[in-house]
Amino acid sequence: MALIEKTDVLTVGHDRIDNDHDDFINLLNKLDAAGNADFPALFQQLYEQTEQHFDRENQLMKQFSYPGEAEHKSEHQRVLGEFKQFKSRVDKGLIAFGRSFVKDRLPQWLGLHVTTMDGALAAHINKQPQA
Ligand SMILES: [Fe+2]
Ligand SMILES: [Fe+2]
Repeated sequence: MALIEKTDVLTVGHDRIDNDHDDFINLLNKLDAAGNADFPALFQQLYEQTEQHFDRENQLMKQFSYPGEAEHKSEHQRVLGEFKQFKSRVDKGLIAFGRSFVKDRLPQWLGLHVTTMDGALAAHINKQPQA
């Protein structure tokens, strides 16, 4: 069984954001199924993908003068900081820490973040005449 299904996560109605979230879910499931030898490279990939996704959302907030920009951006920063701590453990060979982050932390975080912050951002963008 997959760690997380696409149907577990809300579709926000913005193609680029939704596609990124799908990619994130695919990679989380790959990490969950990966052996210890493959885990660090996939974890690195998830980190980079997350950073790029956050940059894209941050860019959209700026472009569409999103009123919740500061709060949403700082949540992205906070999660990346947490991610970095786990990445440094995985890089030292402490794979179990990375597995716990992937299994016990990220799926719940994603569900909540998408339902609240990303959903609100997409709704704001979709209200704009130039969107
Ligand atoms: Fe976000
Ligand atoms: Fe997002």
